[in-house]
Amino acid sequence: MAKIISGKELSAKLKEEMAAQVAGFPEKYGRVPHLVVILVGDNPASVSYVTGKAKASETVGIRNTTIRKPETISEAELLELISELNSDDTVDGILVQLPLPRHISEAKVIETIAKEKDVDGFHPLNVAALWQRQPCTVACTPKGIIKMLKEAGIEISGKRAVVIGRSNIVGLPVAKLLLDENATVTIAHSRTANLAEVTRQAEILVVAIGRPRFVTADMVSEGAAVIDVGVNRDPETGKLCGDVDFAEVEPKASVITPVPGGVGPMTICCLMENTIQCFLSKKLSKGE
Ligand code: GUN
Repeated sequence: MAKIISGKELSAKLKEEMAAQVAGFPEKYGRVPHLVVILVGDNPASVSYVTGKAKASETVGIRNTTIRKPETISEAELLELISELNSDDTVDGILVQLPLPRHISEAKVIETIAKEKDVDGFHPLNVAALWQRQPCTVACTPKGIIKMLKEAGIEISGKRAVVIGRSNIVGLPVAKLLLDENATVTIAHSRTANLAEVTRQAEILVVAIGRPRFVTADMVSEGAAVIDVGVNRDPETGKLCGDVDFAEVEPKASVITPVPGGVGPMTICCLMENTIQCFLSKKLSKGE
């Protein structure tokens, strides 16, 4: 039986610690950190994520402004809004919820957010800094995954890790973080030849491809730590489910993350941490 790592519990604990830290900011710095979240359109999943970010901000004591724009906003208008927020000294973090409508270039949006306010860690300069082991804002989901493994007492150093998925948001950065923790890392994807043979080598298996119950018991070795980043709708029940067939895989794994309640809450928790970090870096650079 696997130990289930509750991202919900760990994130609640970490948010409590951050709330205590932020409570001292008004006296020390004159104000609390300010996160601006931009939501374009009304995709239900995005609305739910953005609501979660606002709730977490409230818990931690971070000021949250959520700006909603219609699906029809032009790329130029959105870039202009970001530029205004970049030059607004009362704003510490800017997040544009993805995905965006097809007429707006996500790459342009990400590049336009000032590196110093990029709480997602998606800006090319933050990505480059991560791969060069320089100080940077680390993407929230990968950062949360490493925290969960450490909290579960999993030694990463010396382990064989397999990441299924190669996105800029999760697969690639989590592979880099595992490498930095001295794991030996294989990056696979849904079209990897003999994928099950590859994943059975994994002592740590991270799955981020967005396919319901893609990872079955035959793909997992006995005692593996399994991290499920997937958030999907089960085609049969319509309920939320991960990329891992939890019922099948859980008996083989040493630790496993559930969906919901696993990686998701940790992502939001790390967003709070990144917002505080951006706020403190700004204060430090100004010598306050
Ligand atoms: N959409 C899904 N996950 C994320 C995230 O972590 N950040 C942003 N900006 N959009 C997302």
